[in-house]
Amino acid sequence: MKIELPIDSKLNTHQFLFGVATASFQIEGGADSRLPCIWDTFCATPGKIRDGSDGLVACDHLRLWREDVQLIKSLGVDAYRLSISWPRVMHQDGSLNAEGVDFYIQLLDELKANQIKAFVTLYHWDLPQHIEDNGGWLNRETAYLFADYADKISRAFGDRVYSYATLNEPFCSSYLGYEAGIHAPGLRSKAGGRQSAHHLLLAHGLALRVLQQNSPHTMNGLVLNFTPCYAQSDDPADIAAAQLADDYFNQWYIKPVLDGCYPDSFALLADSDKPTIHDGDFAIISTPLDFMGVNFYTRTVYQACAENGFAPVDMVDAPKTDIGWEIYPQAFTDLLVSLHQLYTLPPIYITENGAAMDDKLVQSQVQDLDRVSYYQQHLLALDSAIRQGVKVDGYFAWSLMDNFEWAEGYLKRFGIVYVDYQSQQRVIKQSGLAYRDLINSRSYTRHP
Ligand code: FCB
Repeated sequence: MKIELPIDSKLNTHQFLFGVATASFQIEGGADSRLPCIWDTFCATPGKIRDGSDGLVACDHLRLWREDVQLIKSLGVDAYRLSISWPRVMHQDGSLNAEGVDFYIQLLDELKANQIKAFVTLYHWDLPQHIEDNGGWLNRETAYLFADYADKISRAFGDRVYSYATLNEPFCSSYLGYEAGIHAPGLRSKAGGRQSAHHLLLAHGLALRVLQQNSPHTMNGLVLNFTPCYAQSDDPADIAAAQLADDYFNQWYIKPVLDGCYPDSFALLADSDKPTIHDGDFAIISTPLDFMGVNFYTRTVYQACAENGFAPVDMVDAPKTDIGWEIYPQAFTDLLVSLHQLYTLPPIYITENGAAMDDKLVQSQVQDLDRVSYYQQHLLALDSAIRQGVKVDGYFAWSLMDNFEWAEGYLKRFGIVYVDYQSQQRVIKQSGLAYRDLINSRSYTRHP
């Protein structure tokens, strides 16, 4: 089974970049050679991770990274998106940990030697635990510690990086971590959710300025996730509910960055839930980006609800992935087109897109035709957005390989490569082969 795109698609040209993505905590293991982070603590708390697992070994990438670079190379991709583990590269006193830095330098050099562009994310949720012990993202000081980390690590990496992103999905860090409590550090308060979001956005802006200074030739930006919100019916109350949810979950993170303010619905927050904002914060937060990363997986449908303003509706009969997320590719097109209408966007890279499926390894093969079909549909949806004028320059499959899927532990497999966690053997799935063939068959040359 193949992934096929129209011959005249931008995705069919070498001007469009294809990659695969991972994150440090999800694949590295090697926990004994770094500081503890909030996810170690969360995993050690009974009942937080569905299979009771942790990131101590994960995909053992810390040991197997050379083979993993060859695996990436064998997929024919132009780029690899990875994240740096802050607790691996910094000591508690704020100095660089030479051993940790050296690991990434070797990895970055190996990628370069194999002509694979490195898209580096500085924060994919593994906050050092000692910083959490001081309030974590609820403490404004953490934003400045992050900028200091960005400063030191970008100097150490020199010219090895093609693109930096400051944060991955501040929505997840703040809302899931400090408001809904389903991700580390597992706190539950609306005020905490809003305050941590503000500090994360500030951290992004401060670090972006550092990167523009230290590394002016890399493409520097931010990665946001979007779950587009649809109304259950044409009833104006449902439409208003979907709009409110969209502000709260999506626009809350992009609007300060591109427009320098929160959505109007900020005014609806109770005073006790409003974050403390200092003069000048929005100027820092809205420092111009070289690119914006967009992560897309699914949509949510909403109905009006008296208590909260909006309530999600379970789309019982809709097709879903193994993690229960609705498969609705039209939302990918709608999202990109609507962002293009609402904002003056920098160039967009799709920094994550993919699906968890109930994969089975049979005779050394994984026939994940459901995942091939997910990629096929979403790449067509992306092609359609590009034809409608959205400037998208690249796409990363989430994920290179199966890994630690946060609160779901190892139960959900998102890889285009299968990982046998017992033997640490990697097997390219049918989707990985189809992705490779698509990339290798790019033929069309566009003339501007
Ligand atoms: C995103 C995360 C990524 C992965 C996918 C499935 O929210 O950035 O680490 O877990 O979801």
